[in-house]
Amino acid sequence: MDICIVGAGYVGLSTAVGFAEHGHRSVCVDINQKRIEDINSGVCPIFEPGVEEALRRSISKELLKATLDLKGALETSEVVFITVPTPCDDSGKMDTKFIDKASKDIAKYISSYKVVVVKSTVIPGTTESVVMKNLEAAGKKHGVDFGLCMNPEFLREGHALEDFLKPDRIVIGSADIRAGDVLEKLYEGFNAPMLRTDIKTAEMIKYASNSFLATKITFANEIGNICKLLGIDVYKVMGGVGMDKRINPHFLRAGCGFGGSCFPKDVSALLNKGREAGHEPRLLDTVLKVNADQRKLMVRHLRSKMDLKGKRIAVLGLAFNPDTDDVRESAAIDTVQGLIEHGADVSVYDPKAMDNFRKLFPGITYAKSAKDALKGADACIIATDWDEFKKLESKDFDSMKNKVILEGRKTLDKSKVKSFEGVCW
Ligand code: UDX
Ligand code: UDX
Repeated sequence: MDICIVGAGYVGLSTAVGFAEHGHRSVCVDINQKRIEDINSGVCPIFEPGVEEALRRSISKELLKATLDLKGALETSEVVFITVPTPCDDSGKMDTKFIDKASKDIAKYISSYKVVVVKSTVIPGTTESVVMKNLEAAGKKHGVDFGLCMNPEFLREGHALEDFLKPDRIVIGSADIRAGDVLEKLYEGFNAPMLRTDIKTAEMIKYASNSFLATKITFANEIGNICKLLGIDVYKVMGGVGMDKRINPHFLRAGCGFGGSCFPKDVSALLNKGREAGHEPRLLDTVLKVNADQRKLMVRHLRSKMDLKGKRIAVLGLAFNPDTDDVRESAAIDTVQGLIEHGADVSVYDPKAMDNFRKLFPGITYAKSAKDALKGADACIIATDWDEFKKLESKDFDSMKNKVILEGRKTLDKSKVKSFEGVCW
């Protein structure tokens, strides 16, 4: 099938190459000229394992190209996915400006029946109140000129292509059966349960899923904070808890709090939607508050051990997740911010995310390697559980002036590194 993807970011591009792996032809439309050029020359503008190789394969098979020209892309496509950002505004509410613009642009250029699919994470009610409204306002008739679906993504950054190709489930919310059937046909060959439902339910499944996962992580962090005071290893506790099939072992890794472009904004957006609708989501509010504190815990911990003024502190890991270059809402941001505020001299290293982090903190030292960052340091904080850091051994820390090592993510191998401490273990 011929598809158009509007917004070639972590989600849009992973979706495009994923469909191309299934033999579909994808045209990515974006507003960023450089990104278009990168994609067409087989250079992946994001770091996502497997995406660059899949992109090159797709281009060589003429199954993927990128363009600024939405009109032209729509003419050759049966299905158009919207994967533009849905950021939170200052009040924590979801901002629909990009969804609004993308749907207005699509409405302008539709000339024959197209299935419009919202894949961006949107608050329940948005697909109909923004996208359907813009299409009909442009004189397009639902069921004649367009079909409308909502197909949420469940892609973890660092695993986006893997999660796209092997989903636990494919959720298809549709306003009309025909559109849902077209989308179901597009996903033929994906060996995963298909859930057909209405649009609002599909929108809410995404928010409820992310909010639950964020809550699950926060629960592990809360138990970790208690266990640390009682001298209990929360990782052993959660290992036992996760053996209950009703709970399962996933997303129970205690640490310095969740980050990323999704959990924080999605929980905040759902919280505000609930409030607006007349319910006070106290649990979601507490999850965000506990998480905000958890993200500041590493600096607070270090301050209980030393006066940070003038001390050289190494931060290993800047990305919010391993295997991504994305630093959005990364715990490293709170950590570096806190260290600077208390007068520390900060040196950082990350295998992939330094260019993105440098845009936020240009004035700190960017080391060429973990070892380089550790030289002469009074303490070290590990903020991302990169595989590279799991291989670190005691001798790698010998160049530190003071061997104080604090983990924000369980990373180091106890058999290789002796003295270190976890933020909540
Ligand atoms: C985004 C949303 O943040 C997420 O909630 C949704 O589930 C999927 O889309 P992501 O792919 O991480 O996730 O966004 P990002 O990596 O920022 O990429 C967005 C892309 O859209 C960028 O390439 C940007 O240039 C492009 N864009 C943005 C447009 O093409 N048009 C716009 O109007 C705005
Ligand atoms: C998340 C959801 O997992 C995905 O389904 C949705 O589509 C988008 O949002 P993402 O935010 O990209 O994906 O990555 P994820 O692997 O979920 O990690 C999010 C944050 O939670 C990271 O900061 C990670 O360090 C943290 N985390 C994750 C924990 O602290 N403990 C865990 O056990 C798992």
